[in-house]
Amino acid sequence: MESCRTLALALVLACAACGPGAAGLQREPATWDADRRRMVDEQLRARDITSPRVLDAMLRVPRHLFVPEAERARSYIDDPLPIGLDQTISQPYIVAFMTQALELEAGHRVLEIGTGSGYQAAVLAELAGQVYTIEILAALAERARTTLAALGYRNVDVRTGNGYLGWPEHAPYDRIMVTAAPDDVPAALVAQLKDGGLMAIPVGSASGPFQELRILRKNPKGMETLSTLPVRFVPMTGKPRK
Ligand SMILES: C[S@@+](CC[C@H](N)C(=O)[O-])C[C@H]1O[C@@H](n2cnc3c(N)ncnc32)[C@H](O)[C@@H]1O
Repeated sequence: MESCRTLALALVLACAACGPGAAGLQREPATWDADRRRMVDEQLRARDITSPRVLDAMLRVPRHLFVPEAERARSYIDDPLPIGLDQTISQPYIVAFMTQALELEAGHRVLEIGTGSGYQAAVLAELAGQVYTIEILAALAERARTTLAALGYRNVDVRTGNGYLGWPEHAPYDRIMVTAAPDDVPAALVAQLKDGGLMAIPVGSASGPFQELRILRKNPKGMETLSTLPVRFVPMTGKPRK
């Protein structure tokens, strides 16, 4: 699998390097690898990302191939980056923090809301059995689908739709990750989480200075909530009318 992915990666790089504005891509793959290793050491390991599985996944996924060409040289910096249509790919540390909080296992079925570039879905796919991811903007969903397929991720399904409703056909989920911020935890997502399951979700208004990243565990008595970091995500749009 790993060699297929390396081949696919080489093809993506080769094709992209043929196009206009490809200056940022005419780098040796080893240079991107070195950037990614530095990102893992300096931004993740040096903070509180301790899970070897998460660190390995962050080392394997070629983040620069999920970043638009104009931003590609900055792929491994300690910041979110624009991906078009006023949306962003999250800061590597936040991706790793949320992934670590979900305590993923190889057999898990995971729902992600907010596909964006597809990068977080790829990280989840490295660690879980099957990932279902929903993106409200069709152009981003299409691009993410293409990137993930080119890299050989066969355990990710991308759907264009409204994440407030979840993806009931594949529920219940062992884990749910939300990467856009709603005002409140959507009821459909709570309903689609397994008993004992975990959800990572930023909650709060986009007009405030930040939202709160919550880790929720569903148990028979209700939801246990752990508040973690202050974060700043793009708002979750398309709230259904009551
Ligand atoms: C911060 S970006 C996600 C980054 C993404 N996980 C990645 O790895 O690139 C948030 C995404 O959520 C999407 N989004 C916002 N509201 C949504 C909704 N109701 N359902 C699904 N996606 C939504 C946005 O269009 C945007 O692409």
